[in-house]
Amino acid sequence: MTGAGPGRRPSPTFAGLWRELERLGRDPQTGGYRRFSWTPADAACRAWFTGQAEQRGLAVETDNNGNLWAWWGPKRPGAVATGSHLDSVPDGGAFDGPLGVVSALAAVDLLKDKTFHPERSVVLAAFTEEEGARFGVPCLGSRLLTGAVDPDAARVLTDDAGTTLADAMVAAGQDPGYLGPRDDLLDGIGAFVELHVEQGRALAPQGAALGLAEAIWPHGRWRFDFGGRADHAGTARLADRRDPMLPYAGTALAARRAAEQNGAVATFGKVIVEPNGTNAVPSAVRAWLDARAPDEATVADTFNAVRSAAESFCEQHGVTLSVRQESFTPLVRFDAALRDRIAGTLAAAGFSAPVLPTAAGHDAGFLAARVPTAMLFVRNPTGISHSPAEHADLADCEAGVRALAAVLEDLAGPE
Ligand code: GLV
Ligand code: MN
Ligand code: MN
Repeated sequence: MTGAGPGRRPSPTFAGLWRELERLGRDPQTGGYRRFSWTPADAACRAWFTGQAEQRGLAVETDNNGNLWAWWGPKRPGAVATGSHLDSVPDGGAFDGPLGVVSALAAVDLLKDKTFHPERSVVLAAFTEEEGARFGVPCLGSRLLTGAVDPDAARVLTDDAGTTLADAMVAAGQDPGYLGPRDDLLDGIGAFVELHVEQGRALAPQGAALGLAEAIWPHGRWRFDFGGRADHAGTARLADRRDPMLPYAGTALAARRAAEQNGAVATFGKVIVEPNGTNAVPSAVRAWLDARAPDEATVADTFNAVRSAAESFCEQHGVTLSVRQESFTPLVRFDAALRDRIAGTLAAAGFSAPVLPTAAGHDAGFLAARVPTAMLFVRNPTGISHSPAEHADLADCEAGVRALAAVLEDLAGPE
């Protein structure tokens, strides 16, 4: 079994780049990241990426959807794209997204060191709002790029403070008037390879530093609005209350049961309570369900079970309910020919890379609808992700850089 890969020198730049980026957007209390799109932390990450790319002689542009592209070579058809995202979930880990961006820069360094000249241009991408942590829709930048979301619907998405995406973009100096698909850009890309930290723990037991993606589970997000009546926590008789917390609590437990019964996962990870007072019966609970499963029918069955549980709990407690789907992401199967080609390149470079499905969403899933796409995973020894505890060992990250460089050399090199 291969560990960090035999006989290759470590990337000289990965650790240095990593140290610079890991300072940006980190919460000193939790050690987690709050790099929400179009905020100052996001701007700092974008400026850092732009500066690094320009130092390497790459031509950087921000597309109409806010995604960053750094070109090594002219814009012409057949370019090989690589990259990931720089935004984070609330208190996210350091690796989810940035590992793919930093590895792309470090892979370019390795290739330049060996005086590789790409025959097909290499373009480094950093997609915007991948997590949907601010505006609710995951992979928003790649959805817009590929036409998977209506630009008018995207412009009016709001964050928890009621700021629209359009206003947030304007405040960050980006014109939201041009959001929408970019067939011209996509038509110029011959392949996309996203390197990402493993989310889950499949590689460690196999002794493998790297893995390759086979598929991404389908995934839906729904907003549940439970409406009740605010009242006094001491004086309102239990029988008189219309407390939205109770149907919400029942629904959260029902989601767990439905997931267990269906072989799915279902999570209420975000809840907003109004007015959020210890001594007040709440007037409203807003809660967001994230449900995923190996196939779309099982996601639908899981959601339907959760919604009917919510309906019956609401009826029991005199609470109103409204449920709205905020996003759906279909099943993705990655291009088998590209994966096989990459597996061959990795084997020649001394890496064994098991092929894995994943239940995490990625921009690669949207690119895959338009461009032959593959994903490389870097071992996560605990499997923990979307948490400050997310981790990958430096040796594995450096192995990822060498692997990505080998893949780019093959895909962008002579036929
Ligand atoms: C993003 O990481 C997601 O899977 O939600
Ligand atoms: Mn993530
Ligand atoms: Mn990610």
